[in-house]
Amino acid sequence: MIGFLKSGSVTEGFAVRLLRDVSPESLKIGDFAVIEGRIYKFFGIIDDLRLLSSNEDVFFDPPETPLQKLALSGSIIYSEIQLSPYVMADPDGNLMSIKTVPEHFSSVRLAENRDIELVFKRGGKPFFIGTPLTMDEHIYVDLEKLSMRNNAIFGITGSGKTVLAKIVFSGLIRNEIASLLIFDMHNEYGRSSKNEEGRVEPSLKTFFPKNVKVFDVAHNPDADSIITIPYVDVDPEDIALTSEILHYSEKSEETALLVRRRKGKEWLKFLFSLQGKTDEELAEISESLGVNSASLSALIRHTTRLSELDFLQDTMEESSINQILNYLKSGISVVVQFSGKYKNSALVYFLVANIISRRIHGKHESMSDSELKRLRTVIVIEEAHKFLSTNLKERNIFGIIAREMRKFNVTLFIIDQRPSEIDPEVLSQVGTRFVLQMMDESDIDSVFQGVGGGSRLKKILRSLQARESLLFGFSVPMPVAMRVREFGEDFFKEMQLNSPHGDPNKDLYGE
Ligand SMILES: Nc1ncnc2c1ncn2[C@@H]1O[C@H](COP(=O)(O)OP(=O)(O)OP(=O)(O)O)[C@@H](O)[C@H]1O
Ligand SMILES: [Mg+2]
Repeated sequence: MIGFLKSGSVTEGFAVRLLRDVSPESLKIGDFAVIEGRIYKFFGIIDDLRLLSSNEDVFFDPPETPLQKLALSGSIIYSEIQLSPYVMADPDGNLMSIKTVPEHFSSVRLAENRDIELVFKRGGKPFFIGTPLTMDEHIYVDLEKLSMRNNAIFGITGSGKTVLAKIVFSGLIRNEIASLLIFDMHNEYGRSSKNEEGRVEPSLKTFFPKNVKVFDVAHNPDADSIITIPYVDVDPEDIALTSEILHYSEKSEETALLVRRRKGKEWLKFLFSLQGKTDEELAEISESLGVNSASLSALIRHTTRLSELDFLQDTMEESSINQILNYLKSGISVVVQFSGKYKNSALVYFLVANIISRRIHGKHESMSDSELKRLRTVIVIEEAHKFLSTNLKERNIFGIIAREMRKFNVTLFIIDQRPSEIDPEVLSQVGTRFVLQMMDESDIDSVFQGVGGGSRLKKILRSLQARESLLFGFSVPMPVAMRVREFGEDFFKEMQLNSPHGDPNKDLYGE
């Protein structure tokens, strides 16, 4: 026992007076505590600690010896914690939202293993994801629920977003919950990645060699296939998302749509064939197409960079998109990487992510209910704010997926440093949030927008260090502050041993 209940309310939380022999330094913001009511157990998080005194006079004549201090403590000087309750359990272990308050003097203690299991390990597919900040017990997230809604990992650079994502994705693949389609901006989710110290660490393809396929837009020894996208598979709408990079105006978009109307599927090939034509030739072609000649010239100029992309090809061969869709359909996850000259190319990342995701959207809309039930796809995008900013709103496929695709069993998993730049409407569609260390006030505000008790959670967030995360939303019964589990030997072994098709004897580092 650490103390007893002094005052409080359902909406404002509880003040707990600490016992005389409990040092406030033994407790931390974010600790998980339990109030033992007469009937119910109340589970909450410590979100503040304070020092108090009943008589200010003692500060004019402070105690000089430990014994004198002891004489004052508990009566004249004392400490309190502020405890925000989130759920309560009846004697049968049924959880419910807080509907009443425990009595005065109810005893308060830090949570134990049985409490954490009661709250976090409840049916579904519980997956060990981290430990409470000051304990070694396991916190679980329900992977099934996680895959049913959109999710997000937010945090500043170096806070541990990618490592946490790898842990979550490993859980989803190992338990065969969903097929993941990961647009892997920095090539970290395929066979291996380098950590901050430059050490090579295994990644999803190494853990689950048969359940993960790696595609790349350029040559990459770790990839299973190189991506080719035939010109005929590119729509003007695909290019629209890269409009900022291509300086592609709305006018160009309209012109592209007109060209496609005239030329059909061959529109892009036709457009590329116009490069190098003289103004007179272009004027004639514009007239025959019924488009403005200056607009056509601008469109040709703005799409020149696309004609230089090796993976866009004038071919009738099967598009990699179909292969990717077929893998996803058969329960295999796909990591799309960006190597060689396309490393760090925002244009290529956005274009490819957009083209493939648009096809998935189209395919799922035409599927029958029974087909859809069997499939669950999670689309992962990094630097999500660049896809989901407010100014891209209407035409943005990822916004549409976030808002409308849950009924088709397609959800979005966004990983981002700048949540304040994401369209608030999309943010409001995020079911479960993992919030790692954050500094910027506007980012912190946007993460908690519309979240009940957000101001209390903000206090906890401000106390987090790298690798620590707040976790709240649809797939956990209450918010929790956790230290993300160690991504190291134990985790690697566990994944390998439990991999549906992995080989536990294989050298994990592939060296
Ligand atoms: N759970 C963990 N177990 C072990 N090491 C970790 C863990 N989380 C983070 N780290 C260490 O911290 C480093 C940074 O983490 P990570 O790459 O996930 O950060 P990030 O938030 O994705 O950063 P960026 O925004 O730059 O991509 C890792 O390379 C790793 O060394
Ligand atoms: Mg990262």
